[in-house]
Formats: sequence, structure tokens, C-alpha cells
Amino acid sequence: MRSSTLVTASLAAVAAAAPASKRSSDFSPDGAYFPLQNGFPSPSKDQLMGIQKEAAGTLPNGPAPPTISDDGLTSLKLIALNEIFEVAFFTELVYNVTNKLPGYDLGYGNEYVLGSLQAIVAQEQLHALNANNALKAFKQEPIQPCKYSFPVTDFHAAIALAGTFTDVVLGTLQDVNQIFSKNRDDGLVRAVSSVIGNEGEQEGFFRLVQKKRPSSQPFLTTSVRDFAFTAIQGFIIPGSCPNIDTIPLKTFEPLNVLSQDIQPKTQNLHFSFDKKAANTSDWESLSVVYLNQQNVPVVKNLQNVQVKDDTVTFDAAFPFDEFVMFGLTIAAVTKGSGPFANPDAVAKAAVFAPGLIEVNAPLY
Ligand SMILES: *[C@@H]1O[C@H](CO)[C@@H](O)[C@H](O)[C@H]1NC(C)=O
Ligand SMILES: *[C@@H]1O[C@H](CO)[C@@H](O)[C@H](O)[C@H]1NC(C)=O
Repeated sequence: MRSSTLVTASLAAVAAAAPASKRSSDFSPDGAYFPLQNGFPSPSKDQLMGIQKEAAGTLPNGPAPPTISDDGLTSLKLIALNEIFEVAFFTELVYNVTNKLPGYDLGYGNEYVLGSLQAIVAQEQLHALNANNALKAFKQEPIQPCKYSFPVTDFHAAIALAGTFTDVVLGTLQDVNQIFSKNRDDGLVRAVSSVIGNEGEQEGFFRLVQKKRPSSQPFLTTSVRDFAFTAIQGFIIPGSCPNIDTIPLKTFEPLNVLSQDIQPKTQNLHFSFDKKAANTSDWESLSVVYLNQQNVPVVKNLQNVQVKDDTVTFDAAFPFDEFVMFGLTIAAVTKGSGPFANPDAVAKAAVFAPGLIEVNAPLY
């Protein structure tokens, strides 16, 4: 059984392991979620007003900035891709809870959870519409929905997964703001920062529901756009996205975190990747790199490498005590051992990524 207090997952690997045929939800037997009943992703004016009421607020009503960089456009496309995936996920979660599907019957007193999730769905719809409206204002094709499959069949696993992918988003929007500011796309920073706060509030709720402390770390773990782009594709039915190819970001090979229930202590972690994708057997030429909080990337050797059929398994030291590595850690296997000054340098050298590790403080 999946632990409700600790989640460790390579999203891509978990999703790949879940056959599309497993679903018994009649919400979307074939993974197609859109258009929703409220018209999303293309709601009418009246439908949009309904979404805004459920979201407890409106789309920003000022104009888009007059200009944007190419990198800025890429960020808006990634945000749209991510937010539409989140709308699909939370819409199905609300459906499962509302209809008390097996594993989703929260019993009496679930109004708070359901009401919170309904607000989240509507807020994610507005995040997606805002990004796509900005793309349209800059004469770009809006990002269209894909088909999805989610590797969860009970409420606790669903909330744990939401907590992990929201942590990745919270790290990635830091990167988006950083890239906006580098390219003088400063007109977009305020709105994206407001979304970071909203996603952080959501994360506090997911953590509370899992009986974790609402705030995970003083400085949330950073990420880069390529890592998020790869992780999101773990939930997408391959070939189902009409225009994902308009997003010029990198997709890495999957890195599987095999260790489960990772405790807050220094230890070796266990990983695997596909041998063919490595196209080398010089394992000493590869490194494991960890991103946690706002710290300089931590580099470790692959140890105890074993090759069986097409799979390479190995260990790597996880220096929890030295760096107090609570919350999300993003692992990558890179060519070379750096040193890597920042997350961008890690992404540049990464072959297998992102491995997602969550470590939590004991409650009492
Ligand atoms: C909803 O329930 C179905 C049936 O168990 C499951 O396949 C699907 O992954 C669930 N979705 C979410 C978001 O929990
Ligand atoms: C293996 O080759 C592919 C295709 O040339 C490349 O994308 C990938 O980065 C290579 N992997 C390594 C570990 O060198």
C-alpha cells in the first residue's frame, strides 16, 4: 500500500506503470476530459462568469504587456500545458469524491474537502485561460488539451500525487519568473507570482489532508522548466496532444526512484534507468545530482551499479543530515560530475530526470 504520509515517485515512471485500462471511473473511460460541461477550455462569457464565481475571483482584467521574449512565450505554453493537465486531474478527483467511488468515499463531513477541491478546479481553469489568453494576445496558438491517465485509484494516493506535482510547479514557477526577469518580461512577473502564492495555499491544504505540517521548508525547492515538462508528460497518453510540439523544451529519459517511504536521515537511495537510453556502460562517467531548497546542486557517484536485461539499478548517497533535505528533492543523472553552479547547469548535463523524492518532518 502507498504510504499516505510519504510519497516517492518518478511521476513518469508511476504513470507509465498504470495501464489505461485500469480505470473504472466513468468520468473519462478513454482519457478525454475536454470540453468540460462549463465549456472549458473555451467557455462562453456566461460560463466564464460561472467559473469565476466558483474560483472566488476573476481573471486579471488588464491588457497583456506590449511585447514578450521567445523564452517568455515558451513559459506561457508550459504553464498552459500544466494547468490544463491539473484541471483534468482535479476535475476527475472531484468526480470521484462526489460519486464516492471505491477508495474515494470520505464519509460524513467531507464538505470542506470537496468545497476546497471545487475551488481549486475553477482556479486552475482560470490559470490555464490566463496563460492561453496571453498567448492569443501575442498571436500564438493556445495550448490544447491532451488525453490523460492518472496512476491513482484512491483519495490518499491522489492527494499525495497532487502534493508532489504541485511541489514541482512551485519550483518551476521560480524558474519562469527568473527567465522572465532575465529577458525583461517584467510585465508578467506579478501575475505569475500571484499564482505561486495560490499554488502554495493549495499545497498547504494537500499537506494538511495528509496530516503533514502545512509548510514544508523555509525556501521551497527550485526546479527548471524542462524537468516539469518531462514530469507532466508522464500523465499524458502518448501522441494525444494536438500541439505540444509547439513547446521547445527538453524531455529527459525517466529516472525511477525505487526507495519507498524515505525517512529524514542520511542514507543510500536506490534508483534505476533504462540501459539503452544511457548508450554508455562507463557508469563512472555519470553522476546523481540533487536539487533541494535554494542550495547549490549536490553531486554524488553512482554506487553498486547492476545491469540486468535492459535495466540499470544503482545506489547513491542521500546526504540528508548535511543539508537538512526536507520537502521535495529533484534527482537527475547527469553526464559528468560538474560541479554544477545552478539548476540550469544540471538540466544541461542531465540525461535521466526528474526523480522526485519527498521527505517529511515527523509530526510529533
Ligand atoms: C478516479 O477514479 C478512477 C477509478 O478508480 C481512477 O482510475 C482515476 O485515476 C481516479 N482519478 C483521480 C484523479 O483520483
Ligand atoms: C544517447 O544518445 C541519444 C541520441 O543520440 C542522446 O539523446 C542521449 O543524450 C545519449 N545519452 C547519453 C547518456 O549519452
